[in-house]
Amino acid sequence: MDWSQAKYTASFGTSAQIAPADRPEIVLSGRSNVGKSSLINKLCGRKNLARTSASPGKTGTINFYHLPKLCLADLPGYGYAKVPFAEKRRWAELMEGYFNLPDRDIVLVLQLLDIRHSPSQDDLGMIDFLIDRELPFLLVLTKADKLSPAKVKERMEAFRQEISCGDDIYMLAFSSETGQGRDELRSILEQVIED
Ligand code: GTP
Ligand code: MG
Repeated sequence: MDWSQAKYTASFGTSAQIAPADRPEIVLSGRSNVGKSSLINKLCGRKNLARTSASPGKTGTINFYHLPKLCLADLPGYGYAKVPFAEKRRWAELMEGYFNLPDRDIVLVLQLLDIRHSPSQDDLGMIDFLIDRELPFLLVLTKADKLSPAKVKERMEAFRQEISCGDDIYMLAFSSETGQGRDELRSILEQVIED
């Protein structure tokens, strides 16, 4: 698959606005600042396809990117305390509303977690939600460049204890800085689309 063909298509702030699905969807979920937009850029080999930001809580919309055979849905990051309550409620509606849309063909959710930290309550809640809804997902452990290889291994083992069903969930270490994990992730996504 030629990942560099990715195109930004649209952003939606309420679930009622979301355009009908016309291809299989890969969803990116994770707390604000975990590296969702950076992962999209690295995956597609493009510097500024998705807007990234050093200050968390900036993406309040679901942003869609199209490739010929799939669509990437970049969810708004959750868990940023300084966002006003009304805004949090809108995000919650947007996320719930999106996952309740009847027409989506969600083939995989990439649940991102910062490899350096134990999952937050919000992360654990999101993972429980994915399990409850029987959505296929895997864990992408981001910012792996910030740890030594030995520490990466240690944290990956720790996540198995910190997350319910951790032993059964596929995990991969990823870095948008070095490209670690990119080829593995690309081949997983290509396989999922072929199935
Ligand atoms: P929201 O849109 O607010 O939900 O954030 P996001 O999850 O899209 O995070 P984004 O990709 O904007 O990255 C947030 C910050 O983390 C930016 O300053 C990135 O440069 C940095 N960052 C993202 N991925 C990595 C990584 O793999 N390694 C390092 N060192 N920094 C990263
Ligand atoms: Mg983002």
